[in-house]
Amino acid sequence: MLKESLHGLTKGTELEPIMAAMAQGEANGVMMYYALARLAKEQGLDDAAKTFIEAANQEAVHAGFYAVLNGKYPKDFWQLVAGVKATEVKGEATVKALADKVRAAGFTQAADEMEIFAKQEGHHGVILDELLKKYAPKNSTAPAQKTFVCSICGYEHIGDAPPATCPVCGQPSTAFKEKSKLKIQAVRFYDGGFMMKSFACGGGLPEGSIADEKLRSSLQNYVIDTGDEIILVDTGTPAEMDFPVTEKSVITFGDKIVDYVDALKNLGYAPEKVSKILVTHKHPDHTGELRAFPNAKIFISRIEADDMNLTGDNVVRVDFTDGAYKNFPACQKIADGVYYIFAPGHTKGNSIVIVEDGEKFFMIHGDVTYTDEALIENKLSVVFEDLNAARDTLKRVRDFIKANRTVYLSTHTPLGYENLAAEKIMELPDVEETTAAETQFDTSKAVGKKWICSVCGYEHFGDAPPEICPRCKQPSTAFKVQ
Ligand SMILES: [Fe+2]
Ligand SMILES: [Fe+2]
Repeated sequence: MLKESLHGLTKGTELEPIMAAMAQGEANGVMMYYALARLAKEQGLDDAAKTFIEAANQEAVHAGFYAVLNGKYPKDFWQLVAGVKATEVKGEATVKALADKVRAAGFTQAADEMEIFAKQEGHHGVILDELLKKYAPKNSTAPAQKTFVCSICGYEHIGDAPPATCPVCGQPSTAFKEKSKLKIQAVRFYDGGFMMKSFACGGGLPEGSIADEKLRSSLQNYVIDTGDEIILVDTGTPAEMDFPVTEKSVITFGDKIVDYVDALKNLGYAPEKVSKILVTHKHPDHTGELRAFPNAKIFISRIEADDMNLTGDNVVRVDFTDGAYKNFPACQKIADGVYYIFAPGHTKGNSIVIVEDGEKFFMIHGDVTYTDEALIENKLSVVFEDLNAARDTLKRVRDFIKANRTVYLSTHTPLGYENLAAEKIMELPDVEETTAAETQFDTSKAVGKKWICSVCGYEHFGDAPPEICPRCKQPSTAFKVQ
């Protein structure tokens, strides 16, 4: 039988401020008792810890009771739950980022526990979502309303104006900002691989100058939903391609999660809905599924398009005629707030993409670096077609990030999707460039067929592929003839 509701009984009466104080006091009591339980446990006093936890749980019940009496939360609470779900989902990335800071400060044990909390926050998001699907009223006829996001806790409020206070963290309405329609997501298709630091940071340096440390590796590209159109940055690896791994490999992608196109569909984007594709560069892990998007215009720098012999009415050879973008000399505007920018070096026609969102910039840079360590330490990877241009591009990328609040979105490291989830602003120290020692192979004097390593893009000229890729150590089967 349903109970008679106590909701709002004391609201507007002289009891209201007393009940509010009681609710707050009880909530503080929960915090205090759980802290005491923890300390008691550390001191081996398990029975005391148990008693504190019992008290804490009762205090929690009391806090909820007083809040209901005052009608602190709405009786029809599903919209509130939807907003809280957003907080929990974002909470996972926020707590994980905080755990990383705690770990960097040397507090390993605390960081380990916070990583569990982070997962729990994410799990709360999942279970709330299940409840919402089961019980929340479907309001499909409601007019489109604005969404306001609490800048402190991420709570989302739907309506014409922000709420007077945030129901989760208590911030005033001024903490709320209208949510932009822009949505960037990582299209993740490989994870759990590794790369050697010498590969990611040893570009142009004598062998042995970078210690051989294993770093995490993955593979993801990005999709930009501007609210008006769907724009891809790169298109993954071809579904049928696999990447051999040997004990000599210096970069692996890890296990395939799902084919690229299916990963995109799983994010809710049908291939037919994609209107534009921005190609950072020609390598097969960035151009693999260009064929899969029947209605998309493919924007690619003229140098890369010519190198790939791309044909078709939908191919737009870009000459970057829209002038400078901040400290980059040449760009092409693709949509409001979306810029395709010439950034050569990794390949001769390499480009990056910058997306503006209010005061924040998202930089989707292809392979300017393979991992954030290289960016932070100001080191090139061993993969480049033009060493001097790669140096110049890395300097511009670093200068841009120092001058603008930038979220750095990489292709080959899990830091790419982690930075995105936490919307982490990249911070860079001043680091001197290391003078390059490597001399470059002059490809204009090359003879024979051109073989391209499908993992790192290394170009080999001759009748047969090399036994092993001199750059990423893949076997000859990784080479495809162009
Ligand atoms: Fe590449
Ligand atoms: Fe790549």
